[in-house]
Amino acid sequence: MKHFAIAIDGPAGAGKSTIAKMIAKKLNIIYVDTGAMYRAVALYCINHGINCRDKESVEKILDQIEIKIQYIDNVQRILLNNEDVTDKIRTQEISQGASDVATIQAVRIKMVELQRNLAKTVSVVMDGRDIGTHVLPDADLKIFLTASVEERANRRYKELIQNGIECNLSKIKEEIEARDKNDSCRECSPLKKAEDAVEVDTTGQTIQEVVNRIISLIPKQFDTN
Ligand code: DC
Repeated sequence: MKHFAIAIDGPAGAGKSTIAKMIAKKLNIIYVDTGAMYRAVALYCINHGINCRDKESVEKILDQIEIKIQYIDNVQRILLNNEDVTDKIRTQEISQGASDVATIQAVRIKMVELQRNLAKTVSVVMDGRDIGTHVLPDADLKIFLTASVEERANRRYKELIQNGIECNLSKIKEEIEARDKNDSCRECSPLKKAEDAVEVDTTGQTIQEVVNRIISLIPKQFDTN
C-alpha cells in the first residue's frame, strides 16, 4: 500500500505540532516533528562549546552526531547518540541554536535523509519549515500554517506561564520575529509556502476548528471515516 504523507509547514508558534499530533492521532498515523532533529543537533553543539552559527565547526562534528527517532506510546522521542534528549530541547537557547544550525546545508542534508527514510516506511504527518517544498515534494496534502506574530507570541507566553516559567511577552515576540527572519531568509530550503500548499491562518481559530479544516482537505482515498 502506498504510504500517505501530510506536510505541515509554517513559522514558529503557528500551532504546527499541536495540530499535527491531533491529525496523526485521528488518522492513526505517525507524527514526525522535524524541528526536534535540528534542536538535537543544536544541543550537541552547545554541550560541546560549539557556536551554532559557526558553519565550519558544526560541519566538522556532524559525523559525531547520530539522531534517531523512536515512538513510545505513539509519542515521538528523539535520541542523540542513543540518549533520549526529548525533554532537554525546548529552551529558548536551543530554539535559537536550532534555527542557526538549520541554515547549514550539510546539517540539512543529514536531517532530510532521515526524514525521507521515515516517510518511506510509514504514513506520516510531518511538520517543519521545508517539508512541502523540499523534504516531501509529493506529499498527498500540504498545509502552510500561519498566525499573526502577536498571536504566536501570546500563545508561547501562556504556555510558559502555565509551566511556571517567568517570561516577558515583548521579549518573546522579538525572539519569534528574529527566528522567523532567520528561517525565512536563509539560503538553503528557507521557510516558504509550497506552491501547491493550502494556507491556513490559525489567528483567532480554535485548535479544533483548524484540525477540522485540515481533515476536510484530506483526499478522499485517505479519509478514515
Ligand atoms: O519547529 P521548531 O521550532 O522545533 O524548529 C526549530 C528550528 O529548526 C526552526 O527555527 C528552524 C529549524 N527547522 C528547519 O529549518 N527545518 C525544519 N524542517 C524544521 C525545523
